[in-house]
Amino acid sequence: MSLIAPPELAIIGGTGLYALAELDDVQLEQPVTRYGALSGPVHMGLFAGRRVAFLARHGEGHSLPPHRINYRANLSALQALGATRVLALNTVGGIGERFGPRVLACPDQLIDYTHGRIGTFCEEEGSEVLHVDFGDPYTPSLRRRVIDAAAAAGVGLVDGGCYGATQGPRLETRAEIARLRRDGCDLVGMTGMPEAALARELGLEYACLAIVANWAAGAGPVVDEQITLDEVLANVAAASAGLPALLRALLQ
Ligand code: HPA
Repeated sequence: MSLIAPPELAIIGGTGLYALAELDDVQLEQPVTRYGALSGPVHMGLFAGRRVAFLARHGEGHSLPPHRINYRANLSALQALGATRVLALNTVGGIGERFGPRVLACPDQLIDYTHGRIGTFCEEEGSEVLHVDFGDPYTPSLRRRVIDAAAAAGVGLVDGGCYGATQGPRLETRAEIARLRRDGCDLVGMTGMPEAALARELGLEYACLAIVANWAAGAGPVVDEQITLDEVLANVAAASAGLPALLRALLQ
Protein backbone atom coordinates (compact mmCIF):
# COMPACT_ATOMS: atom_id res chain seq x y z
CA MET A 1 0.00 0.00 0.00
CA SER A 2 1.32 3.43 -0.93
CA LEU A 3 1.93 6.12 1.68
CA ILE A 4 0.40 8.70 -0.67
CA ALA A 5 -3.21 9.66 0.13
CA PRO A 6 -5.63 7.54 -1.88
CA PRO A 7 -7.16 9.13 -4.98
CA GLU A 8 -10.85 10.01 -5.04
CA LEU A 9 -10.86 9.06 -8.69
CA ALA A 10 -8.54 7.07 -10.93
CA ILE A 11 -8.61 7.95 -14.61
CA ILE A 12 -7.33 5.65 -17.32
CA GLY A 13 -6.56 7.59 -20.50
CA GLY A 14 -6.87 6.05 -23.95
CA THR A 15 -5.63 6.89 -27.44
CA GLY A 16 -4.79 10.60 -27.70
CA LEU A 17 -5.14 11.09 -23.92
CA TYR A 18 -1.72 10.51 -22.43
CA ALA A 19 -1.70 13.06 -19.59
CA LEU A 20 -3.99 15.26 -17.53
CA ALA A 21 -2.71 18.77 -18.09
CA GLU A 22 -4.45 20.19 -15.02
CA LEU A 23 -2.92 17.77 -12.55
CA ASP A 24 -0.82 19.63 -9.93
CA ASP A 25 1.67 18.41 -7.37
CA VAL A 26 2.26 15.25 -9.36
CA GLN A 27 4.08 12.29 -7.92
CA LEU A 28 4.83 9.30 -10.11
CA GLU A 29 4.09 5.87 -8.69
CA GLN A 30 4.75 2.52 -10.31
CA PRO A 31 3.73 -0.20 -7.88
CA VAL A 32 5.08 -3.68 -8.47
CA THR A 33 2.17 -6.03 -9.04
CA ARG A 34 2.02 -9.82 -9.02
CA TYR A 35 0.66 -9.57 -12.58
CA GLY A 36 3.74 -7.88 -14.00
CA ALA A 37 4.36 -4.40 -15.32
CA LEU A 38 1.65 -1.80 -15.72
CA SER A 39 1.41 0.44 -18.77
CA GLY A 40 3.56 3.15 -17.18
CA PRO A 41 3.82 5.35 -14.13
CA VAL A 42 0.63 6.39 -12.35
CA HIS A 43 0.47 10.18 -12.04
CA MET A 44 -0.85 10.94 -8.56
CA GLY A 45 -1.76 14.57 -8.05
CA LEU A 46 -4.36 17.19 -7.36
CA PHE A 47 -7.06 18.07 -9.87
CA ALA A 48 -9.21 21.01 -8.78
CA GLY A 49 -7.92 20.36 -5.26
CA ARG A 50 -8.96 16.67 -5.28
CA ARG A 51 -6.69 13.66 -5.29
CA VAL A 52 -6.67 12.01 -8.69
CA ALA A 53 -4.61 9.20 -10.21
CA PHE A 54 -3.99 9.12 -13.94
CA LEU A 55 -2.63 6.22 -15.99
CA ALA A 56 -2.07 6.22 -19.76
CA ARG A 57 -3.45 2.84 -20.85
CA HIS A 58 -1.25 2.51 -23.95
CA GLY A 59 1.86 3.78 -22.18
CA GLU A 60 3.07 7.35 -22.40
CA GLY A 61 4.43 6.99 -25.94
CA HIS A 62 1.48 4.84 -27.08
CA SER A 63 3.76 1.84 -27.20
CA LEU A 64 1.23 -0.83 -26.22
CA PRO A 65 -1.38 -2.14 -28.66
CA PRO A 66 -4.77 -3.05 -27.11
CA HIS A 67 -4.10 -6.81 -26.90
CA ARG A 68 -0.75 -6.29 -25.14
CA ILE A 69 -1.99 -3.99 -22.40
CA ASN A 70 -1.59 -5.61 -19.01
CA TYR A 71 -5.12 -4.81 -17.84
CA ARG A 72 -4.72 -6.84 -14.66
CA ALA A 73 -1.54 -5.04 -13.62
CA ASN A 74 -3.06 -1.63 -14.37
CA LEU A 75 -6.17 -2.20 -12.29
CA SER A 76 -4.46 -3.96 -9.41
CA ALA A 77 -1.86 -1.15 -9.27
CA LEU A 78 -4.60 1.49 -9.10
CA GLN A 79 -6.28 -0.48 -6.34
CA ALA A 80 -2.96 -0.82 -4.48
CA LEU A 81 -2.67 2.97 -4.62
CA GLY A 82 -6.03 3.19 -2.84
CA ALA A 83 -8.35 3.80 -5.80
CA THR A 84 -11.91 2.54 -5.45
CA ARG A 85 -13.41 4.37 -8.41
CA VAL A 86 -12.18 4.28 -12.01
CA LEU A 87 -13.23 6.43 -14.91
CA ALA A 88 -12.06 4.83 -18.15
CA LEU A 89 -11.58 7.16 -21.09
CA ASN A 90 -11.91 5.17 -24.31
CA THR A 91 -11.42 6.44 -27.83
CA VAL A 92 -13.99 4.75 -30.06
CA GLY A 93 -15.59 4.63 -33.46
CA GLY A 94 -19.25 5.60 -33.73
CA ILE A 95 -21.85 3.21 -35.17
CA GLY A 96 -25.24 4.52 -34.05
CA GLU A 97 -26.44 7.78 -35.56
CA ARG A 98 -26.31 9.62 -32.21
CA PHE A 99 -22.63 8.69 -31.91
CA GLY A 100 -20.85 10.68 -34.61
CA PRO A 101 -17.29 12.00 -34.42
CA ARG A 102 -16.55 14.28 -31.44
CA VAL A 103 -19.47 12.99 -29.39
CA LEU A 104 -18.86 12.07 -25.74
CA ALA A 105 -20.89 9.12 -24.48
CA CYS A 106 -21.29 7.18 -21.27
CA PRO A 107 -22.30 3.68 -22.42
CA ASP A 108 -24.40 1.42 -20.22
CA GLN A 109 -23.80 -1.90 -21.96
CA LEU A 110 -21.04 -3.76 -23.74
CA ILE A 111 -20.45 -6.80 -25.92
CA ASP A 112 -17.06 -8.48 -25.84
CA TYR A 113 -15.59 -9.62 -29.19
CA THR A 114 -12.00 -9.78 -27.97
CA HIS A 115 -10.08 -13.05 -27.73
CA GLY A 116 -6.89 -14.35 -26.25
CA ARG A 117 -6.70 -11.73 -23.49
CA ILE A 118 -6.49 -12.67 -19.84
CA GLY A 119 -9.94 -11.63 -18.70
CA THR A 120 -10.00 -12.69 -15.08
CA PHE A 121 -8.02 -12.69 -11.84
CA CYS A 122 -9.17 -16.30 -11.28
CA GLU A 123 -6.20 -17.72 -13.20
CA GLU A 124 -3.97 -19.17 -10.60
CA GLU A 125 -4.23 -22.63 -9.17
CA GLY A 126 -6.26 -22.48 -5.98
CA SER A 127 -7.62 -18.99 -6.57
CA GLU A 128 -11.26 -18.50 -5.72
CA VAL A 129 -13.51 -18.73 -8.80
CA LEU A 130 -15.56 -15.56 -9.03
CA HIS A 131 -18.71 -15.52 -11.14
CA VAL A 132 -19.21 -11.80 -10.71
CA ASP A 133 -22.49 -10.23 -11.69
CA PHE A 134 -21.93 -8.29 -14.92
CA GLY A 135 -25.48 -7.58 -16.06
CA ASP A 136 -24.67 -3.89 -15.69
CA PRO A 137 -21.02 -3.84 -16.78
CA TYR A 138 -20.58 -0.21 -15.72
CA THR A 139 -21.32 0.86 -12.14
CA PRO A 140 -24.72 2.58 -12.33
CA SER A 141 -24.02 5.07 -9.51
CA LEU A 142 -20.74 6.20 -11.07
CA ARG A 143 -22.40 6.49 -14.51
CA ARG A 144 -25.08 8.65 -12.93
CA ARG A 145 -22.44 10.92 -11.39
CA VAL A 146 -20.66 11.28 -14.74
CA ILE A 147 -23.92 12.14 -16.53
CA ASP A 148 -24.90 14.64 -13.82
CA ALA A 149 -21.42 16.18 -13.90
CA ALA A 150 -21.62 16.67 -17.67
CA ALA A 151 -25.02 18.35 -17.30
CA ALA A 152 -23.73 20.59 -14.47
CA ALA A 153 -20.69 21.55 -16.56
CA GLY A 154 -22.75 22.15 -19.70
CA VAL A 155 -20.80 19.48 -21.59
CA GLY A 156 -22.77 17.46 -24.13
CA LEU A 157 -22.78 13.74 -23.31
CA VAL A 158 -24.92 10.91 -24.67
CA ASP A 159 -26.38 8.91 -21.79
CA GLY A 160 -26.20 5.21 -22.69
CA GLY A 161 -25.18 3.08 -25.61
CA CYS A 162 -23.61 -0.29 -26.14
CA TYR A 163 -19.83 -0.56 -26.50
CA GLY A 164 -18.53 -3.36 -28.73
CA ALA A 165 -14.99 -4.35 -27.74
CA THR A 166 -13.02 -5.66 -30.71
CA GLN A 167 -9.60 -7.27 -30.78
CA GLY A 168 -7.69 -4.86 -33.02
CA PRO A 169 -5.17 -3.52 -33.49
CA ARG A 170 -6.52 -3.29 -37.04
CA LEU A 171 -9.77 -1.42 -37.56
CA GLU A 172 -12.88 -3.37 -38.50
CA THR A 173 -14.26 -4.30 -41.92
CA ARG A 174 -17.54 -2.75 -43.01
CA ALA A 175 -19.17 -6.19 -42.68
CA GLU A 176 -17.91 -6.49 -39.10
CA ILE A 177 -19.36 -3.08 -38.24
CA ALA A 178 -22.66 -4.03 -39.91
CA ARG A 179 -22.70 -7.12 -37.70
CA LEU A 180 -21.94 -5.07 -34.58
CA ARG A 181 -24.80 -2.74 -35.50
CA ARG A 182 -27.16 -5.73 -35.85
CA ASP A 183 -25.95 -6.92 -32.45
CA GLY A 184 -26.98 -3.58 -30.97
CA CYS A 185 -23.58 -1.90 -30.62
CA ASP A 186 -23.49 1.91 -30.84
CA LEU A 187 -19.76 2.29 -30.30
CA VAL A 188 -16.70 0.23 -31.12
CA GLY A 189 -13.34 0.26 -29.40
CA MET A 190 -10.47 -2.08 -28.63
CA THR A 191 -9.74 -1.53 -24.95
CA GLY A 192 -13.07 -1.71 -23.12
CA MET A 193 -12.57 -5.38 -22.30
CA PRO A 194 -11.36 -7.11 -20.26
CA GLU A 195 -10.80 -3.90 -18.28
CA ALA A 196 -14.45 -3.51 -17.21
CA ALA A 197 -14.77 -7.13 -16.10
CA LEU A 198 -11.49 -7.07 -14.19
CA ALA A 199 -12.58 -3.89 -12.39
CA ARG A 200 -15.76 -5.68 -11.35
CA GLU A 201 -13.78 -8.67 -10.05
CA LEU A 202 -11.72 -6.28 -7.91
CA GLY A 203 -14.86 -4.59 -6.60
CA LEU A 204 -13.90 -1.24 -8.15
CA GLU A 205 -16.53 1.22 -9.29
CA TYR A 206 -15.99 1.62 -13.02
CA ALA A 207 -17.56 3.75 -15.76
CA CYS A 208 -16.57 4.45 -19.35
CA LEU A 209 -16.43 7.87 -20.92
CA ALA A 210 -16.22 7.16 -24.64
CA ILE A 211 -14.83 9.74 -27.01
CA VAL A 212 -15.93 9.23 -30.59
CA ALA A 213 -12.99 9.76 -32.91
CA ASN A 214 -14.45 8.65 -36.24
CA TRP A 215 -17.36 6.91 -37.87
CA ALA A 216 -16.69 3.18 -37.67
CA ALA A 217 -16.10 1.52 -41.06
CA GLY A 218 -19.12 2.09 -43.29
CA ALA A 219 -21.19 3.68 -40.49
CA GLY A 220 -20.92 7.32 -41.60
CA PRO A 221 -22.44 9.21 -44.49
CA VAL A 222 -19.47 8.41 -46.77
CA VAL A 223 -19.55 4.62 -46.81
CA ASP A 224 -16.06 3.97 -48.19
CA GLU A 225 -14.33 6.73 -46.22
CA GLN A 226 -10.88 5.74 -44.91
CA ILE A 227 -10.12 6.26 -41.22
CA THR A 228 -6.81 8.04 -40.60
CA LEU A 229 -4.84 8.48 -37.39
CA ASP A 230 -4.73 12.24 -37.98
CA GLU A 231 -8.53 12.36 -38.09
CA VAL A 232 -8.75 10.23 -34.94
CA LEU A 233 -6.33 12.44 -32.99
CA ALA A 234 -7.89 15.71 -34.20
CA ASN A 235 -11.38 14.57 -33.19
CA VAL A 236 -10.20 13.26 -29.81
CA ALA A 237 -8.51 16.60 -29.12
CA ALA A 238 -11.66 18.54 -30.12
CA ALA A 239 -14.02 16.26 -28.20
CA SER A 240 -11.79 16.39 -25.10
CA ALA A 241 -12.11 20.15 -24.79
CA GLY A 242 -15.01 19.73 -22.35
CA LEU A 243 -13.29 17.06 -20.27
CA PRO A 244 -11.62 19.30 -17.66
CA ALA A 245 -14.94 21.00 -16.85
CA LEU A 246 -16.69 17.65 -16.68
CA LEU A 247 -14.01 16.22 -14.37
CA ARG A 248 -14.10 19.31 -12.16
CA ALA A 249 -17.86 18.90 -11.76
CA LEU A 250 -17.45 15.17 -11.11
CA LEU A 251 -14.95 15.82 -8.34
CA GLN A 252 -17.09 18.45 -6.56
N1 HPA B 1 -12.80 0.91 -34.28
C1 HPA B 1 -12.23 0.41 -33.16
N2 HPA B 1 -11.57 1.16 -32.29
C2 HPA B 1 -11.50 2.48 -32.53
C3 HPA B 1 -12.07 3.06 -33.67
C4 HPA B 1 -12.77 2.23 -34.59
O1 HPA B 1 -13.31 2.69 -35.62
N3 HPA B 1 -11.79 4.39 -33.61
C5 HPA B 1 -11.10 4.60 -32.47
N4 HPA B 1 -10.91 3.45 -31.81
